[in-house]
Amino acid sequence: MAETLTLPTTTDRAALYEALYPQLAALIETESDLTANLANVAAALKEAFGFFWVGFYITKEGQLVLGPFQGPIACTRIPFHKGVCGACYTRRETIVVPDVEAFPGHIACSSASRSEIVVPVFHRNGTVAMVLDVDSDQLDDFGQADSQGLEKLMRLIERKL
Ligand code: SME
Repeated sequence: MAETLTLPTTTDRAALYEALYPQLAALIETESDLTANLANVAAALKEAFGFFWVGFYITKEGQLVLGPFQGPIACTRIPFHKGVCGACYTRRETIVVPDVEAFPGHIACSSASRSEIVVPVFHRNGTVAMVLDVDSDQLDDFGQADSQGLEKLMRLIERKL
């Protein structure tokens, strides 16, 4: 697997996720180390879409603890009942927040973040292993293409848990 991404010159999110999927699948399937895989997924999403912040919060020690990410430094620990990440953990489903200021309990790691999507990653036994958090500096930046594209990518991570 080449260590560069090949991406179409388009801003169409669905097309970008489609191009990304086989390349990340190849990377992840040939690497057994979870941290390495999470780091490459975060980097690939940042490179492909230019999102403000992309990273993982991993279920650990009874809370969500910062894992591999791309972007500015961020909060390191999030209780299960706090923020969008905690809501994703508790509800066990993808959460799209078009305007973070309108989400009660949103944790502002950066004031530049305006909208957000958080996707759960499950262990084989059904518990939440981690969440993927993607932040944008644009309002209402995430839609169905993102939830579908990111959920499909997270299934690749789940296969390696
Ligand atoms: N906004 C998140 C916290 C994580 S940072 O955005 C990177 C939340 O409300 O859970």
